[in-house]
Amino acid sequence: MLDWLGLPVQASAHAAELDHMTVLVHWLMLVLFVGWGAFFLFVLVRFRKGANPAANYAGAKGKFAKSTEVLVAIIEIVLLVGYAIPAWATRVRDLPSEDEAVVVRVVAEQFAWNVQYPGRDGRFGRVDASRVSAENPLGLDRTDPNGRDDVTTINQLNLPVDRPILVRLSSKDVIHSFGLNEMRVRQDAIPGMEIPVWFVPNRPGDYEITCSQLCGLGHYRMRGFLTIQSQADFDAWMAEQEKEQAQQ
Ligand code: CUA
Repeated sequence: MLDWLGLPVQASAHAAELDHMTVLVHWLMLVLFVGWGAFFLFVLVRFRKGANPAANYAGAKGKFAKSTEVLVAIIEIVLLVGYAIPAWATRVRDLPSEDEAVVVRVVAEQFAWNVQYPGRDGRFGRVDASRVSAENPLGLDRTDPNGRDDVTTINQLNLPVDRPILVRLSSKDVIHSFGLNEMRVRQDAIPGMEIPVWFVPNRPGDYEITCSQLCGLGHYRMRGFLTIQSQADFDAWMAEQEKEQAQQ
């Protein structure tokens, strides 16, 4: 049913729900398109000059147009109130608790995605704008006890499958947009704000992080990679990152 829309694979728990809504909206648009098209053709023939040599100043009096408009409005309200608003409420209100979720910070910049994992202590180290440099794009303070074990990457986000993921999203410079198409996740990254984004990936694989907001000349190459892996693979990857970090 979804193939005709050409959507990417569904790789998160809420993907099917969003796609369902997309399909309903497309059906409505198809009906409107065909309906309006047919009406347009009817009007061209019905009110042609040959059949109506004199203008009618009273205009058409049919009730059909009004009732159709009301019907379309009702369907749109059902889509909005019945599907869109509840789905969005779940996205922004029902955040997973930090104890059960994998929490990760993602900080966008022109033109890369900086990722910060809290490390074994589960606490993010302090970041400070004055410490930002080419080697330390996050401005992470390694002297902070919470920051000593933090793991950072650039353009590479690894996450375990089937666990709630809580991304704390922000930006260093301009507005970017964090887009994970297969996860059906898209959220603007706004400087000065830390916006929570959550999803449950349920399909291991390699995906892309796309920047979905025109953010400058390098927007086209602001591309990161998302790897969804088993918990064991994720733990092994994390251990490797920690080892590399310790050698630096
Ligand atoms: Cu960042 Cu487009």
